Amino acid sequence: MADKLKLLLAGIGGYGAGYVMATMGMKDEMEIAGIIDPYADKSSAFDSVKDLPVFNTIDEYFDAGNTAEAIVISTPIQLHCQHLCAALNHGLHVLCEKPLCASLEEAQTIIKASKNHPDQKVLIGFQWSFSPAILEAKKQILSGVFGKPLSMKVIVRWPRAFSYYERNDWAGRKNDSKGNFVGDSIISNATAHYLHNPLFMLGDSMGLSAEPLKIEAECYKAYDIETFDTAFVRLSVPNKQGSETKVFIAVSHCCEENVNPTLEYTFQNGRMWCSGDDRLHGELNGEPNEFGIIGSNLGYYNKLIWLCKCARNGAESPCNALTALPELKTANYILKHIAVKHFEKGNVEECTAPMNEKRLKVNGLDAVMKDCYNTMLLPSEIETAL
Ligand SMILES: NC(=O)c1ccc[n+]([C@@H]2O[C@H](COP(=O)([O-])OP(=O)(O)OC[C@H]3O[C@@H](n4cnc5c(N)ncnc54)[C@H](O)[C@@H]3O)[C@@H](O)[C@H]2O)c1
Repeated sequence: MADKLKLLLAGIGGYGAGYVMATMGMKDEMEIAGIIDPYADKSSAFDSVKDLPVFNTIDEYFDAGNTAEAIVISTPIQLHCQHLCAALNHGLHVLCEKPLCASLEEAQTIIKASKNHPDQKVLIGFQWSFSPAILEAKKQILSGVFGKPLSMKVIVRWPRAFSYYERNDWAGRKNDSKGNFVGDSIISNATAHYLHNPLFMLGDSMGLSAEPLKIEAECYKAYDIETFDTAFVRLSVPNKQGSETKVFIAVSHCCEENVNPTLEYTFQNGRMWCSGDDRLHGELNGEPNEFGIIGSNLGYYNKLIWLCKCARNGAESPCNALTALPELKTANYILKHIAVKHFEKGNVEECTAPMNEKRLKVNGLDAVMKDCYNTMLLPSEIETAL
């Protein structure tokens, strides 16, 4: 076996451009063997890889007699299943970007394909699940020292510009332009990490996530999209300690301020929290119990290091297809069962702050989000006018 992991990169535009850069910075551990992307030349990272073999499909790459050991898939969500299964059929270990895929049928296909290739590892790229701080916290929760998990709440205020929804043929859509189901919403894509994380932390073992018993949600939109750009979600989630944990998530792409994820997880014997500083703080039995930097900006690196560990040393993936499934099920339940409301027109305004790009903001939304986060109530329960 060669020293360096021989890697294919599928999808090198958008988020995938970062994998080109990260891989090139990890030259001792891995090398890019080829690129799979029919539109590779449109990527901002194309100049760095233009001398490598570039193919339209995974099959064509192997049909031409090329080899590889692993693949990173950063292609559109509705193509994950097709690409992941093709990669497994060609004997590759797979790091596929989150979410797992678009539909539950595709998820079952992926899970079956992974079981048919037990020696090949599958990693689903929710970067927090590859963070040493998060993994240590989960280990401590599972050990029982924190006692029963009582409540978990997260708030993410991430404005997105019009360009975000215009960047491809599937952002904010139920189906892409070819008619493939994609179900792309704020909760299934950009902030899926913060729906996944509480479920991941409540899983019965390191490799499993918990599945909610009850899902309540209110979804809104300011943008002219098919799905929604703002969601308030309340879940009742069974935990290993035999009780139910109340989980609350408030996320928006049309809020007023840009604030990094803030969370608070409360347990019988302590709590864990992050105040937008990308650090997981902790307190156990009244004493500080710090977990350190979560490393959101180290996401590419942490995921690639784990890919090496899994491929080279047989380590178990901290987030495989089964681990990622409850997030997908929850997001798809919300899309299917929760009616989307339009924000009141009078509250919606065009602006350019804070990222100097034209976007929409909803006046008064941030105060409602903070109220809901603090009380774990849905907007209709605090009788607010959005
Ligand atoms: N982990 C994170 O924080 C994070 C952040 C952003 C996006 N993502 C994920 O990355 C994935 C891609 O999202 P994006 O926003 O970059 O999408 P995008 O549409 O901007 O880019 C997709 C890339 O895939 C390529 N592509 C399209 N069809 C292809 C095909 N048939 N074969 C190979 N390549 C093809 C496109 O040319 C482009 O380079 C999604 O799963 C998304 O959820 C993850």
